[in-house]
Amino acid sequence: MDRRSFLKNMGMAGGAVMLASSPWLSAFSETENTKKEIARLGIIGPGSRGQFLMSFLKKNAKVEVVALCDIYQPSIDGALKLYPEATVYKDYRKLLEDRRVDAVLIATPLNTHFQIAMDAFDAGKHVFCEKALAMTIADCYQMYQKHRETGKVFFAGQQRLFDPRYIRAMEMVQQGVFGDIEAIRTFWFRNNDWRRPVPSPELERHINWRLYNEYSKGLMTELACHQIQIGTWAMQNIPDKVMGHGAITHWKDGREVYDNVSCIYVFDNGVKLNFESVISNKFYGLEEQILGNLGTVEPEKGKYYFENVEPAPGFLQLINDIENSLFDSLPFAGTSWAPETANVNKGEYIIGEKPTSDGTSLMLDAFVEAVITGKQPEKIAEEGYYASVLCLLGHEAIEKEQIVPFPDAYKINYLNHKITA
Ligand SMILES: NC(=O)c1ccc[n+]([C@@H]2O[C@H](COP(=O)([O-])OP(=O)(O)OC[C@H]3O[C@@H](n4cnc5c(N)ncnc54)[C@H](O)[C@@H]3O)[C@@H](O)[C@H]2O)c1
Repeated sequence: MDRRSFLKNMGMAGGAVMLASSPWLSAFSETENTKKEIARLGIIGPGSRGQFLMSFLKKNAKVEVVALCDIYQPSIDGALKLYPEATVYKDYRKLLEDRRVDAVLIATPLNTHFQIAMDAFDAGKHVFCEKALAMTIADCYQMYQKHRETGKVFFAGQQRLFDPRYIRAMEMVQQGVFGDIEAIRTFWFRNNDWRRPVPSPELERHINWRLYNEYSKGLMTELACHQIQIGTWAMQNIPDKVMGHGAITHWKDGREVYDNVSCIYVFDNGVKLNFESVISNKFYGLEEQILGNLGTVEPEKGKYYFENVEPAPGFLQLINDIENSLFDSLPFAGTSWAPETANVNKGEYIIGEKPTSDGTSLMLDAFVEAVITGKQPEKIAEEGYYASVLCLLGHEAIEKEQIVPFPDAYKINYLNHKITA
């Protein structure tokens, strides 16, 4: 879905209407005024994700990628296929000295984000930094504060914030369509070793950085970071505490990060947000399930379901018959007890169609608009900040095997967690 049809679909034609539940969409409010303007971008770390982002930038007439920086030649070669005219740097600090560059996209491994982003802000650049923002909560906080001090635009790579399915789902959640939110279940299941082929052994850690503690916090920073954010977006709040466990249960191949993690985040009203990831069984795929007392929404699937959809009478009878004959054959349970069979209602599509995009392209378009206008869209840096902090907090809970409270020192002015300083 392109920007025009997206805005139309969301009732935002002309940029006049801003959705209360997704205020960062205000980034599109000046698209007409900026149509002759250009954002000059530098890409730092154009590997797999960086080139994917560039493939979308290529479709935006307001973008010029003027510079690239990578320390690995195959990545530069790949990126140059997309933007052959770009100036190539081997040291990102040199790219930051390039006065043509208005903004940088940082798509390097997690352990390098902090320093590059801090230097970029200091160099007067706007910053798009891939998630997670940094390796520690303190570093995330410093990055956020630096953004505030410099007034430069700051986005994290949280594309669900721009995914039409999620935007509409959150609008419905916040209108109370599904009643009170009672629980949020998120999971990401895969069945593969999460490894990339390595052309020669000394490149193992460079290529498979995700698998080693020096560069990554594994499934928490790579996957949970996206899904936990759905919880804060839906709840309009951040959890107070988290507990969790991690282990290597299947891929015992020398990796250091867990292949099996589970965390429970608890909000002040007792509602819980679960995150679970296992990468040796893919049957359930990935989803964020928001469960209200009146209904459920699954934005990844793009569907919602109401609790009380009356089945056709014949069908109801069939269920009763099956259940009753089942109980007849069970010596220990009478018909007063019934198993809670899963709801079979097929639900409705959130936006009336099967999903066609995951928001990445719109997120980049929004960043480009913000770079051109120099205006930070409301709440987007805060969403990115809390997503990173919360996945790191979950990691801390796993490591300590303790219930970890959200530290007051890292709360920012957002949602229910307003600070006075
Ligand atoms: N938002 C999403 O859905 C999403 C999806 C995938 C990856 N990501 C994020 O994107 C980032 C990159 O992931 P990836 O899969 O592309 O990794 P990758 O290994 O494919 O790419 C990283 C690139 O950075 C380069 N690099 C490393 N250190 C550098 C340095 N000091 N200076 C310049 N270049 C350097 C590497 O050579 C490589 O080309 C990670 O933070 C990851 O979490 C986000």
